[in-house]
Amino acid sequence: MTARPRIVRTVKALRASIAALRGGKRTIALVPTMGALHDGHIALVRHAHERADRVAASIFVNPAQFGPQEDFGRYPRTWKADIKALAKEKTDLVFAPSVEDIYPEGFATRIVPEGPARAGLEDKFRPHFFSGVATVVAKLLIEAMPDIAIFGEKDYQQLLVIRRLALDLDLPVKIVGHPIVREKDGLACSSRNAYLSPSERETAPVLHRTLKECAAAIKKGERVMEALAHGRQRIEEAGFALDYLEARNAETLETARSLAEGPLRLLVAAKLGTTRLIDNLGVRQILRS
Ligand code: PAJ
Repeated sequence: MTARPRIVRTVKALRASIAALRGGKRTIALVPTMGALHDGHIALVRHAHERADRVAASIFVNPAQFGPQEDFGRYPRTWKADIKALAKEKTDLVFAPSVEDIYPEGFATRIVPEGPARAGLEDKFRPHFFSGVATVVAKLLIEAMPDIAIFGEKDYQQLLVIRRLALDLDLPVKIVGHPIVREKDGLACSSRNAYLSPSERETAPVLHRTLKECAAAIKKGERVMEALAHGRQRIEEAGFALDYLEARNAETLETARSLAEGPLRLLVAAKLGTTRLIDNLGVRQILRS
């Protein structure tokens, strides 16, 4: 039997438990999640164990980052399986607050990030999103006061927004990024993959395949704009409604025209039926000696 992690539901209990875990000198890693855990989340928890003495995860489906037409109500909630998976990974603590604990009556403060949050990728299609993410992540970091917090590159723009947030607010926490974990066929693991019908699930890996093809073409010398145009066509022909496929500077998210300008990140968002999927891939110049 794997021991169940300690589960706390209030900020007060969280702080007391973190202090006990810390025991004066141990380091703490926090892995914030919205639950419906999959291999991507579990990889973050495993990485957290490598980087810190004790590992806490949070499970909170954050209403502030969902738009009125989005899937807050039907977002998958798989509490029992999540706790079982976290127990297996020897997670020390799970913070699972209620909406009222995070946003009590009278709550009136929001963080409105700029910089990477205004780069025109996710924020163009989900204008409420980064403000919701930044507000809840700032709260979680202040509440738990971990030494490090782990976030996935799956949500690449989110990772850059959170790095900036921690820097700008002088939060005493190291933000650690983790590579994307994929299914065998290349589809990035996501809680929202559960929405896909069997035939949509078969189509879904086209996103990653197209990113790889664009990256290979760009590395071979094809112009970025042309590679992206081919990629967009391929994604739309496969049946997706494309929100964007773009090449950006991997650090600043500024529009990138060529690999000579520095490492690129290809970022894509597209809808299959009612399910919106995102993915991204780094492209670096191959240095020949
Ligand atoms: P959620 O979508 O549950 O993701 C939690 C963390 O897991 C994020 O850092 C995300 O980037 C990472 N993740 C998801 N899929 C991944 C994959 N396939 N490979 C690697 N990492 C992956 O992102 C959120 O929740 C929320 O916005 C949150 C940060 C918790 C704030 O509410």
